[in-house]
Amino acid sequence: MLGTALLSASRSPRLRRLVVSTPVTRRVVDRFVAGGRLADALAVTDRLVAAGLTVTLDHLGEDVSTAAEATASRDAYLRALEAIAAAGLGGAVEVSVKLSSFGQSLPGGHDLALSNVEDVAAAAAAAGTTVTLDMESSGTVDSTLAVHASLRARYPDTGVVLQSYLHRTPDDARALAHHGSRVRLVKGAYREPASVALQDKRQVDLAFERCLRILMNGAGYPMVGSHDPRMIAYAQRAAAEAGRGADSFEYQMLYGVRPAEQRRLVAAGYRVRVYLPYGTDWYGYFMRRLAERPANLLFFTRALTSRA
Ligand code: FDA
Repeated sequence: MLGTALLSASRSPRLRRLVVSTPVTRRVVDRFVAGGRLADALAVTDRLVAAGLTVTLDHLGEDVSTAAEATASRDAYLRALEAIAAAGLGGAVEVSVKLSSFGQSLPGGHDLALSNVEDVAAAAAAAGTTVTLDMESSGTVDSTLAVHASLRARYPDTGVVLQSYLHRTPDDARALAHHGSRVRLVKGAYREPASVALQDKRQVDLAFERCLRILMNGAGYPMVGSHDPRMIAYAQRAAAEAGRGADSFEYQMLYGVRPAEQRRLVAAGYRVRVYLPYGTDWYGYFMRRLAERPANLLFFTRALTSRA
């Protein structure tokens, strides 16, 4: 209930103004976001890489309303990839892209987003790294998978996200469980109707396990995007049953969420990638994190009240 209200709030311009202008919000946001500038993200990246983690950088932004904003989003990624190349970090740091920040929802947006992300994929290849396409609301899935298929023709390492809450995902997982594919499986973070998505958390978890089994039994490289101890343990069982070693899949977790668990998995010999957002357009991302976990909301309200 609360999560649903927060996901609705994440689309409210009025609430956005209120939350963004509250000075104390910044302290809470800093827990989940590396900072406003690329330099902030690179400083955090250095720390994470030194601790044996890998990183996927996310320049915050979604649902742009003009082609010029889409170009600006693309350029932010090009600057990030230049910095990754200059620092020789291509082996440890990739980028995650939301196609809505590249213009996907504008008229003619599919082609615009494809053209923008092609530039980013080319820069990523030059930097010795890869791009993963985040998955957004259900209406964008066909377009995002089509962009992914087009990109893979030239950049076969391009990754994509699948969300276990969608009824369609087992089929999508089967279609992508082939050699060379990189799929990040997550539960799904958007508000979706029952006609397209499972509503019950337990069902979403079971679907996550089912889709993960498909990916682990396939020939691709599964990326397990979850903080849930049960999904983490399940991934280890599914990998063992599929005869996979610890270097044939990876865990992915969000910056600021269960950092001790991230390090524990690294110490146990697993690959762990941290999803690291930076930039000033953090509202939608932040509200989804609050919606996922009541404790995050409590942390936020405590920070608000402790200000007095
Ligand atoms: P969930 O939130 O269901 O929690 C299950 C259990 O995990 C909890 O009961 C608790 O035990 C533990 N747990 C979770 N958070 C914790 C915390 N902060 N501290 C302690 N314990 C905690 N979504 C999307 O729609 N499109 C996308 O592209 C992406 N991309 C993405 C990348 C990466 C790297 C991650 C990790 C996640 C995403 N997501 C996403 C978000 C995803 O869909 C989902 O909303 C969140 O990961 C939350 O689901 P979990 O599986 O983490 O556990």
